[in-house]
Amino acid sequence: MNHLPSFPITRRVSWTTVVLLAGVTAVVWSPKASADTAQLQTLMQRNNCSACHLIDKRKYGPNFNEVAVRYAGNAGAVAMLATKIRAGGSGVWGEDMMPPQANVSEADARTIAELILALKP
Ligand code: HEC
Repeated sequence: MNHLPSFPITRRVSWTTVVLLAGVTAVVWSPKASADTAQLQTLMQRNNCSACHLIDKRKYGPNFNEVAVRYAGNAGAVAMLATKIRAGGSGVWGEDMMPPQANVSEADARTIAELILALKP
């Protein structure tokens, strides 16, 4: 490549190309997944789920990635989890009790359940 003159403009153009490609790649590669995860995080914080749950690590309750794995392909899971989120319960993941989260609206509970089940662990 020694015979090619290295003008500053060349470098600037290729740098721009790299940035553009990175941007395009980011848009193409992490489309819904990351947007959904961000929305789920927001809802978890707003509804105080984060006190006991994380998406990728065990805290007090199961992490949401393992919840997604457990109910993958289960058609009734959204409704079941939306109900459980508001009613609480125990015995599925161990003896620990999830207290009722009656402050969570039905709409939020359903959205959270959908977002959990949409996780791709
Ligand atoms: C005080 C701690 C605590 C809080 C707060 C809490 N959870 Fe839980 N959650 C648990 C425990 C413990 C379990 C396991 C219950 C079981 O084994 O049946 C659980 C289970 C779950 C499950 C799996 C249910 C199943 O039957 O597989 C989901 C989904 C869930 N929680 C969502 C939420 C959401 C959404 C919120 C916030 C609105 C929330 N949790 C708030 C402790 C908590």
